[in-house]
Amino acid sequence: MNTYNKFIFLFFIIIFIFGFLSKSALSEIHASLPPRGWNSYDSFCWTISEEEYLQNAQLIAQKLHVHGYEYAVVDYLWYRKLVPGAYVDSLGFDVIDEWGRMIPDPGRWPSSKGGKGFKDVAKKVHDMGLKFGFHVMRGISTQAVNANTPILDVTTGKAYVESGKIWHAKDIGQKEKACGWMKNGFMSVDTTLGAGRAFLKSLYHQYAEWDVDFLKHDCVFGDDYQPDEITVVSGILKGLNRPILYSLSPGTSATPAMAKQVAPLVNMYRVTGDDWDNWGDVAAHFDVSRDFAAASLIGGNGLLGNSWPDLDMLPLGWLTEPGVNVGPHRNSSLSLDEQKTQMTLWSMARSPLMFGGDMRKLDDTTYSLITNPTLLEINSFSSNNKEFPYITSTTYSEFLEEGPNFRKRSSKDTNGSEKLALGLLSCHNLEAKGWFLRAGDTNLDQVCWKWGARSKMLEPFCLYKTEPHLQSDEDGMYSEAYQGKHHLRARNREGLCFDTSSKRKLTSKEHKTTSFSQCRLDANQMWELNSNGTLVNSYSGSCASIKVMKANTTPGGIRSWIATGRKGEVFLAYFNMNPTRTTISTTISNLSKAFPNINFQSCSCKEVWSGKDYGSLLHSLSASVDSHACALFILTCT
Ligand SMILES: *[C@@H]1O[C@H](CO)[C@@H](O)[C@H](O)[C@H]1NC(C)=O
Ligand SMILES: *[C@@H]1O[C@H](CO)[C@@H](O)[C@H](O)[C@H]1NC(C)=O
Ligand SMILES: *[C@@H]1O[C@H](CO)[C@@H](O)[C@H](O)[C@H]1NC(C)=O
Repeated sequence: MNTYNKFIFLFFIIIFIFGFLSKSALSEIHASLPPRGWNSYDSFCWTISEEEYLQNAQLIAQKLHVHGYEYAVVDYLWYRKLVPGAYVDSLGFDVIDEWGRMIPDPGRWPSSKGGKGFKDVAKKVHDMGLKFGFHVMRGISTQAVNANTPILDVTTGKAYVESGKIWHAKDIGQKEKACGWMKNGFMSVDTTLGAGRAFLKSLYHQYAEWDVDFLKHDCVFGDDYQPDEITVVSGILKGLNRPILYSLSPGTSATPAMAKQVAPLVNMYRVTGDDWDNWGDVAAHFDVSRDFAAASLIGGNGLLGNSWPDLDMLPLGWLTEPGVNVGPHRNSSLSLDEQKTQMTLWSMARSPLMFGGDMRKLDDTTYSLITNPTLLEINSFSSNNKEFPYITSTTYSEFLEEGPNFRKRSSKDTNGSEKLALGLLSCHNLEAKGWFLRAGDTNLDQVCWKWGARSKMLEPFCLYKTEPHLQSDEDGMYSEAYQGKHHLRARNREGLCFDTSSKRKLTSKEHKTTSFSQCRLDANQMWELNSNGTLVNSYSGSCASIKVMKANTTPGGIRSWIATGRKGEVFLAYFNMNPTRTTISTTISNLSKAFPNINFQSCSCKEVWSGKDYGSLLHSLSASVDSHACALFILTCT
């Protein structure tokens, strides 16, 4: 070998080793810990500008990056012009390119001018040491479908041709599958068509060209479940040579069964509706966190790494309201105790932590809370995280009523009123079986849910089966698509049809209630009864089940979570959901039920918020916890 050849040889060896190292490093690090960062939605809704975004990113880099907050994410509608008449479900204000793809509104994102997209913004964010993310909607925009733009074939750089035909937006857009909470904005594309898949590919290749690191894909999960699109997008991301963290939203009515189908394809997925700064929203996360932890979904397999159930952004600090056209202008309305409870649950459940407040007005209290070292340690590195059921309570008012010689009493949650709730499950799930056809008392047949062993209710829950009526010429186009599908009408309720979704983005407080809405030709209201007793919805392809739920929307009572730390310590959190101060207790023998291998006979105990040293655990561990507050213990056992 002459020197030149040696040099070339060495060069290829180095490239090879470098490629190998970066590839293995990549697969090791992709969402190996719960992702952490900032998202613009809670403070700017959709109105954020490039300047405001970069100011926030700069402050994240200065103040939060050392605490693991690395993603700076632009939430929805960055392509919409901020002009009179534009709002979250307006039509016709979006900036799209010749291929029907969304591009940043140059009025709000000046660096995007000249077809540069987010490239310059991404570079600035990367230069700050952070990672760049943004939000995308399902499928294709109504505006692109109305304009009937051609579809780009990324392999040729020209219009997509198949079977001698040039394909357009109208060939792939599914108007009857409009996004449930943004009906005018976006609809699914038909992923069974080569052109539908080519369109999605043209989107995600462009996002990669813009150097994005994180994509939040919305209106594809929970009530808006779109497994086909998630599968196609995940495949596209896997094929790119850029690692992109893949996040799904929203999570209204999401179930562990649904999550198990898509978790390996993604890196995080929401498990509730939107979380805002009220106690009901915080409280609504306890049951769902317990269920996803119990199903071993925390930190499971994901796209090129792990996947994480996501409890949603943290609406703390300086915020705005959902769905508005104004930026940050008010403080979070959660009390400090409620904020601690939220941070503690999010950490114990190892949720991604995405701060939502405006960084430019970050106050010291909020800063200390979101960078609390114990919480961040738990969030990143704890294991065996689960709800701990073996606790008892004594409420403060009982102490008062009964004086110093009080008799300890367990307060049990008793709540008589119940309501029916619709659950959407995977059609493979056995729990979705239970529907049958019954000849009706009128000329209408009924589709009924039999309770079986699930409930002591005797009478089946029945709906009347009717043909969907077509109202206009355009509806006629869809009559074929709805062959064999039916409307299901409520008894005693004229003109109302069984519906999976709602016109707007649901908050978590509203999730799971059985829904009826005005009958119309809409895939949300189209149902088909399978011979195996499952009832499939045309919108999401998921199947219905009916459950009996407690009617109280803000559950009271007490909760507890437990986990182990990487130094062998045990983290134990007590949460008081009651409106009055409550003493919460457990015993050493009950702690052993959670972790039989740990010797709880010889533990020292410290509480995080008060800094109080509880000394050695003798028989039990009790703490008096204020309403909506929590206690967080670190147990060090030898
Ligand atoms: C918002 O909260 C911060 C921190 O508690 C406080 O300093 C500030 O005065 C509050 N602002 C308003 C407008 O309430
Ligand atoms: C019921 O039948 C449908 C349609 O054939 C199928 O997709 C689904 O997996 C079946 N579900 C169960 C629980 O058997
Ligand atoms: C501990 O467990 C026992 C047996 O399951 C139960 O009777 C007792 O009430 C529990 N104690 C607490 C504090 O939860």
